[in-house]
Amino acid sequence: MADVIVLANADERDLRQLAEYRAVGGYTQLERVRSLEPAAIIDELNTANLRGRGGAFFPSGRKMQFIPPKEQIPKPHYVCVNADESEPGTFKDREIMNRVPHRLIEGSLIAAHAIDSQHVFIYIRGEYLDAFETLRTALDDARGAGLFNGVTVVLHRGAGAYICGEESGLLESLEGKRGQARSRPPFPAASGLYASPTLINNVETIATIPKILELGGAEYAKIGAPPDSTGTRLFCLSGNVVKGGNYELPMGITIREVIYDLGGGIPDGRALKAVIPGGSSMPILTADQIDVPLEHDALRALDTFLGAAAVIVVDDRACMVQLGLRVAQFYMHESCGKCTPCREGTRWMVQLLEAIEAGDATHSQLDLLLDVCDRILGKCLCPLGDAAAMPVASYVVKFRDEFRAHVDQGGCPFGGESSLEGLFAPVDQHTHHPVAEVPA
Ligand SMILES: Cc1cc2nc3c(=O)[nH]c(=O)nc-3n(C[C@H](O)[C@H](O)[C@H](O)COP(=O)(O)O)c2cc1C
Ligand code: SF4
Repeated sequence: MADVIVLANADERDLRQLAEYRAVGGYTQLERVRSLEPAAIIDELNTANLRGRGGAFFPSGRKMQFIPPKEQIPKPHYVCVNADESEPGTFKDREIMNRVPHRLIEGSLIAAHAIDSQHVFIYIRGEYLDAFETLRTALDDARGAGLFNGVTVVLHRGAGAYICGEESGLLESLEGKRGQARSRPPFPAASGLYASPTLINNVETIATIPKILELGGAEYAKIGAPPDSTGTRLFCLSGNVVKGGNYELPMGITIREVIYDLGGGIPDGRALKAVIPGGSSMPILTADQIDVPLEHDALRALDTFLGAAAVIVVDDRACMVQLGLRVAQFYMHESCGKCTPCREGTRWMVQLLEAIEAGDATHSQLDLLLDVCDRILGKCLCPLGDAAAMPVASYVVKFRDEFRAHVDQGGCPFGGESSLEGLFAPVDQHTHHPVAEVPA
């Protein structure tokens, strides 16, 4: 069985070209399903058990079923493709847009048919100029070939804010407002873009749909780690690993296999220290946990998540306090500021981590840091606050001795020379606003 789904045939052919995509069966599923009832498409996706690839792993067919019929809400229905991809460690959607743009377009048009929509918006991260250009050309080609059948497709560039990848922030931004999360309910299915029923899905989720319809949901569901983690993921392998990059693999492959069999292991004979399994917002795993299969249930059992499938490898040069600080700085910077636990909590986390790294903290402040994380978790308007609190709390719990050593030695045991090279880019210090007092 074919285990490459989203990037199928992209190694052999230039699938950016419409003719090449058509030569491997491209757009035949769109043409086929247009004569079918929308429910037939949704049934296949439910049989496939396709789950969202944007992070939350929500069943995609069920999400479509939440869209009320037009008789119930007589407004236009919208499809929004989330191409904002800003979570540190993720770079898969970019590859999909750059290499198989027509598969994404075909999936979007099929999704539009499935929810009786005539309007597709693709919200693309502003920094992805290459993917924007590729997608724009592909859209022009598909439109020119008459494949849109009356559907309008708008490609919209974001202005570089992580919160605009959060689905309600994305909708605000698309409406021309400041990117801030909305309180829910109502959920987008009932009241999304322009207060109309809206389906929002990640690029990879949407780009998987044509192949599911080609294979049939039941066949697709045999790939990966059924029943819950069916199919493939584009694993973004990065950090301290020899051969980083995107690897499309069936879910259920172990972290060890990804790092050592495919990624060539850790460079320069260094030792593995930890692995982040799904992007910067996910709780960390220690080196002795890498035999876990990369699938939802197994990772949940270890109190972490697959998230956006960004596997970040951390070697023994990394100071976990510095790593926590870098992560917390990112989320502080990206907090939209609408709710207090996230706005104030992320800043407080940064202050505490700075004090720990500088050797100015007490042991009780390690507990205080965990307490701050706890007061953010589950208490925010959107999951960005959790995205900051979950990973940092996991660093403190799993590497408590290293945090303690900072306090005991009055400074960083790495002598401030820890290398976070290749992990996450530091936040621009001009946007960092330290506050003098660290609460005890
Ligand atoms: C702070 C934050 C940032 C997010 N960024 C993205 C993103 O860049 N791309 C994405 O697809 N989903 C992102 N999500 C998840 C979306 O809110 C939403 O769950 C997803 O687009 C739904 O698509 P799916 O069901 O296909 O995964 C983000 C969520 C949060 C809380
Ligand atoms: S959790 Fe953070 S990003 Fe989300 S609404 Fe609250 S302040 Fe904004």
